[in-house]
Amino acid sequence: MPGTTTSRALLLASVVLTAHMFLCTAYVGGDGFSVEFIHRDSVKSPYHDPSFTAHARVLEAARRSSTQAAALSRSYGRVDAPSADGPVSELTSRPFEYLMAVNVGTPPTRMLAIADTGSDLIWLNCSNGEVAPGLAAARHAHASAPAPASAPPPGVQFNSSNSTTFGLVSCSSGACRALPDASCPDSKCRYLYSYGDGSQTRGLLSTETFTFADDQGTRGDGKIRVANVNFGCSTTMMGSFIGDGLVGLGGGDLSLVNQLGADTSLGRRFSYCLVPYSINASSVVNFGPRATVTEPGAATTPLIPSEVKAYYTVDLQSVKIGNKTLAAPQQSPVIVDSGTTLTYLANELVDPLVEELTRRVKLPPAKSPEDLLPLCFDVSGVRKGQVAAMIPDVTLGLGGGATVTLKAENTFVELQEGTLCLAVAAPSDQFHPVSIIGNIAQQNMHVGYDLDKGTVTFATADCAKSSGSLYI
Ligand SMILES: *[C@@H]1O[C@H](CO)[C@@H](O)[C@H](O)[C@H]1NC(C)=O
Ligand SMILES: *[C@@H]1O[C@H](CO)[C@@H](O)[C@H](O)[C@H]1NC(C)=O
Ligand SMILES: *[C@@H]1O[C@H](CO)[C@@H](O)[C@H](O)[C@H]1NC(C)=O
Ligand SMILES: *[C@@H]1O[C@H](CO)[C@@H](O)[C@H](O)[C@H]1NC(C)=O
Ligand SMILES: *[C@@H]1O[C@H](CO)[C@@H](O)[C@H](O)[C@H]1NC(C)=O
Repeated sequence: MPGTTTSRALLLASVVLTAHMFLCTAYVGGDGFSVEFIHRDSVKSPYHDPSFTAHARVLEAARRSSTQAAALSRSYGRVDAPSADGPVSELTSRPFEYLMAVNVGTPPTRMLAIADTGSDLIWLNCSNGEVAPGLAAARHAHASAPAPASAPPPGVQFNSSNSTTFGLVSCSSGACRALPDASCPDSKCRYLYSYGDGSQTRGLLSTETFTFADDQGTRGDGKIRVANVNFGCSTTMMGSFIGDGLVGLGGGDLSLVNQLGADTSLGRRFSYCLVPYSINASSVVNFGPRATVTEPGAATTPLIPSEVKAYYTVDLQSVKIGNKTLAAPQQSPVIVDSGTTLTYLANELVDPLVEELTRRVKLPPAKSPEDLLPLCFDVSGVRKGQVAAMIPDVTLGLGGGATVTLKAENTFVELQEGTLCLAVAAPSDQFHPVSIIGNIAQQNMHVGYDLDKGTVTFATADCAKSSGSLYI
């Protein structure tokens, strides 16, 4: 059939040609890309403190989590009640736990930004040519001197005048209108973006080419270029941000996930696989087709509408411990978040959960460090490998009939040597209790968010192993 062969060859040629033409503007086809998802305390992070033991790191993360859950709760309460200082903008989970690298502009500047599944706007620390000479000189001196091991290196700023692909976004654009708080005194889109804890950032909404280094890729130079990404070129920041900016991975229009889906053929989806705190290996975040969770036993639950569009909210129906099922209170939305360490559930669930685990776990009780957590056991007399077998699985029943099994490593953490604590607590703000599935509960799971389908999918995975070989 020579005719068929010819047309197939032609078709193939045109596909290759189309792909080639698009490569310079947006990555198309293929299975997507993956970048490292760097825990702020891990060896790969500039905020890694080698003087901390693994337990001290978990304790610190648990402390941050408690502060943050309160901020998330406050933000919920403020959504329908605009404050005196204008409309309340997008709110988010803080303090953030994961970072990712982005390369911005042409030629690219590598920046390490917070990766936040609880907010949308991408923003970066921009110099805008307005840094006082004294400060610039001090920065330079700092960069060339060997930094003390525990001090993070000086941050990177993006200088837009250096880039040939930088542009400003006009006030009439959809992106500017999608901002919760924008003003246009001079046709430039100026934003003010606030977070739940009162942190905020201001600047000009801009557009740039972003380059992602595909950590798993074998294709070409392993670089994925995406043109015309809308981001905030921030010149004023208040609060305790870490890194050189923030990449919003939430469900709203301005998030990286939505922009990749709109500008490329990758689809509006991403996934991550979080390596447990105790393991010295990198986690990954995947975009495009390879973010589809296909592992055996994958459980898919629909996203439900959330008061804050950025939050990935699902319906919690029950919590099961062994053969004991606790029904969740009616209407129990729960946010799936990577930036929150602990899991927060309604009092109506935490109390019987603690009661049931106290009955079933045959270990001596212990006091929680700093009263952070509701249930702890003394495991100093138990050999390391034997603890997990003494903890029953906890199964979350989610909307659509999905069940997610939490193993001992998802429900308990060793907060200090010999003290194992339940990584689940009641929300600290009783007036606006917000339930959250935190990152300990998601360790060693491939968790995929698909905005096109409106779903979140969970599957058990060995994240340290799979980061190199799972997504073939
Ligand atoms: C930004 O780059 C421009 C052009 O290279 C340069 O003139 C300016 O001094 C730079 N600004 C900063 C703050 O480095
Ligand atoms: C932005 O970068 C400058 C220069 O490195 C730094 O002084 C400043 O603290 C940074 N801002 C934030 C919020 O990180
Ligand atoms: C950006 O501009 C600054 C200041 O002129 C210069 O030192 C730096 O090398 C430039 N960076 C790039 C990537 O061209
Ligand atoms: C973690 O692994 C890296 C290399 O993969 C190694 O250089 C480093 O020493 C390890 N750190 C610890 C604390 O084991
Ligand atoms: C539930 O499990 C407990 C402990 O394994 C057992 O004692 C009890 O009989 C079980 N109850 C039912 C109804 O199966």
